[in-house]
Amino acid sequence: MATRLTFSLLVATLALLLLSCGRAAARQRLEVQRHLKRLNKPPVKTITSPDGDIIDCVHVSHQPAFDHPFLKNHTVQMRPAFYPERTANKVESHKNSPSIAQLWHRNGRCPENTVPIRRTKREDLLRASSVKRYGRKKHKSISMPLTVDSDLLNESGHQHAIAYVEGDRYYGAKATINVWQPKIQQTNEFSLSQLWILGGSFGQDLNSIEAGWQVSPDLYGDNNTRLFTYWTSDAYQATGCYNLLCAGFIQISNDIAMGASIFPLSDFGGSQYDISILVWKDPQEGHWWIQFGNDYVLGYWPSFLFSYLAESASMIQWGGEVVNSELEGEHTSTEMGSGHFPEEGFGKASYFRNIQIVDESNNLKAPKEVGTFTEQSSCYDVQNGNNDDWGHYIYYGGPGRNTGCP
Ligand SMILES: *[C@@H]1O[C@H](CO)[C@@H](O)[C@H](O)[C@H]1NC(C)=O
Ligand SMILES: *[C@@H]1O[C@H](CO)[C@@H](O)[C@H](O)[C@H]1NC(C)=O
Ligand SMILES: *[C@@H]1O[C@H](CO)[C@@H](O)[C@H](O)[C@H]1NC(C)=O
Repeated sequence: MATRLTFSLLVATLALLLLSCGRAAARQRLEVQRHLKRLNKPPVKTITSPDGDIIDCVHVSHQPAFDHPFLKNHTVQMRPAFYPERTANKVESHKNSPSIAQLWHRNGRCPENTVPIRRTKREDLLRASSVKRYGRKKHKSISMPLTVDSDLLNESGHQHAIAYVEGDRYYGAKATINVWQPKIQQTNEFSLSQLWILGGSFGQDLNSIEAGWQVSPDLYGDNNTRLFTYWTSDAYQATGCYNLLCAGFIQISNDIAMGASIFPLSDFGGSQYDISILVWKDPQEGHWWIQFGNDYVLGYWPSFLFSYLAESASMIQWGGEVVNSELEGEHTSTEMGSGHFPEEGFGKASYFRNIQIVDESNNLKAPKEVGTFTEQSSCYDVQNGNNDDWGHYIYYGGPGRNTGCP
């Protein structure tokens, strides 16, 4: 009798368990569907990229930005009213730099008045720790090398090799960034090279605008080198995201898709390729604009998204960041930049050249003093320099795990 009761109880429990599993799965399916619908707007045209990406050409007024309640009545500004003025010293000349494009261009282009958006797939969402957090950074990734306790930094596994300026008000930044495809050991790691426009104290309300290239298997499902942007106004907590994965950034370019692969990539000891990124603040409207190369104005972050950055930035950084997911054991062999140390120089080590800032008077110019920072120079290092051709520059990066970085 007692055994039969136990048995029935067991069966009932199992049935309940299965039922709730089924419900949870159904709930997740629904959540994924809803989120995909939010992210992927109805396209005017669709282009399949050779790397498997689907690029949707979405009418400019139907892009995700307009899901933001503050943007309901916003009129898209189709071109910036102001550009930063160049100061007299020439730091731009690079006639022989071949231009970099995006892989999907091989299969078509988006018509005028549309913006190309990398379509988010089911698999993309399923790789994320939670559907809602897809396209956001993990809480712990505060990239604050200078004021934050270094133990904390080491603990979170994020490692940097960067140059920075601070102690003034900044209204923009520019750099030309050498493009590589660093190896990532584990899918939950990433390697990126970018500039950071930072505002505020480095607490819970850090404001940040970031742009560059990244390899991030978790975010994109492959090891391709992709152009990306990021923003947050609360230290990577509730606001902000990569690319167009949340409402905020307003895109105007019909040429460049954020999150899409770029090519060609630099060869070790061979051809070198780089991309220029300029971020600047409209002195009147206060929006933060971004330009890729000399030709493509991508769009802008409206000023209201930010608190500190609504005024100005207090720090600019340029360089690399990786995640080392092995916090206890051996360092992973995830590479930063080319995967080689700065000493190896041009063609081998990765670089940022023509590092510039935009000052209070809207002048694009070389910064006065550039500092450098790295948590563990035996894993990833940085060296800065200055010459006539490249202005301020850095070589940075490294292989991760090696004899000096066990
Ligand atoms: C948008 O415009 C409508 C009509 O003019 C107005 O009622 C509404 O408050 C506006 N919304 C925002 C967010 O400004
Ligand atoms: C990405 O690179 C890792 C290691 O370098 C490799 O194991 C993995 O198969 C690659 N993933 C894809 C999708 O190519
Ligand atoms: C980070 O940890 C490594 C290895 O334990 C140590 O050598 C290094 O000094 C630490 N870096 C900082 C900035 O504390």
